Amino acid sequence: MKCCGSKGEPKKIGKLSNEEIKDLVRERYAGVAQGTSCAIEQERSCCSPSEAIVPSGKEIAKALGYSEDIELMPESVTESFAGCGNPVALASLKKGEIVLDLGAGAGLDAFLAAEKVGKTGKVIGLDMTPEMIQKANSNAEKLGAKNVDFRAGDIEDMPIEDESIDVIISNCVINLAPSKDKVFKEAYRVLKAGGRMMISDIVTEGELPQEVRDDVEAWAGCIAGALPEEEYLQSIKRAGFVDVKVVSKARLGLISSDKVEAYKPHLMKPAETGVD
Ligand SMILES: C[S@@+](CC[C@H](N)C(=O)[O-])C[C@H]1O[C@@H](n2cnc3c(N)ncnc32)[C@H](O)[C@@H]1O
Repeated sequence: MKCCGSKGEPKKIGKLSNEEIKDLVRERYAGVAQGTSCAIEQERSCCSPSEAIVPSGKEIAKALGYSEDIELMPESVTESFAGCGNPVALASLKKGEIVLDLGAGAGLDAFLAAEKVGKTGKVIGLDMTPEMIQKANSNAEKLGAKNVDFRAGDIEDMPIEDESIDVIISNCVINLAPSKDKVFKEAYRVLKAGGRMMISDIVTEGELPQEVRDDVEAWAGCIAGALPEEEYLQSIKRAGFVDVKVVSKARLGLISSDKVEAYKPHLMKPAETGVD
């Protein structure tokens, strides 16, 4: 069993660089992929799945409205699900579309999207945790999913061509990124004109207590990195997106799980000048 305890005083989030924050997120989700997630800063010799503190698994997916079809998926796909919504249900995907899943994890949403876009479409699942990519690739093999491409990479600096994507989906990931502005700027860059973004994510409702904001565990658990809803929506708009709206929300005390949609504008025709 993998050991994941670390000794010493837990560091506060404010004392960590952005790269150190990403390292702790990677460590946490490597644990989720391997079924060994436990508190990063707790002194433990070993972890077991029963100690997992990132809510994950098939029952969470069902509670979030995933259909019974997920029963047909291999356990290795659903056991590491760690989303907070159901963005594929929101995205109205069509045959032939190219989809990018930001923070694809073990691949549940990517596989559901791949079914919808069919053989003529494609899904790229991006994730920065090598253990998640490995698990997602092994899941793709089990499912015989040929139109899914899992790529290692950071959503703040995506290894994706400009204007190559029809639809971006993401499930409970962007809150984990130190710079939401960078993520949305990149999302805008890779979307085709007229492309859409349909995401589920955690936002805050009012001020979180400082000890929660400072807590590395609360960051990795999708709480401390969350922005207030209005700031989150402003960050999307600053990147250039239009028609940005919260489609639905589920409030859980000081946080909400929001479903948000946003569009990259269609190419404008050159303005009519009336001059030949
Ligand atoms: C809460 S899990 C959600 C996984 C998946 N979307 C799902 O619903 O099961 C967060 C995922 O995002 C990935 N992640 C977090 N920050 C990232 C970043 N900056 N770039 C790429 N992936 C990231 C983690 O490795 C992890 O797999």
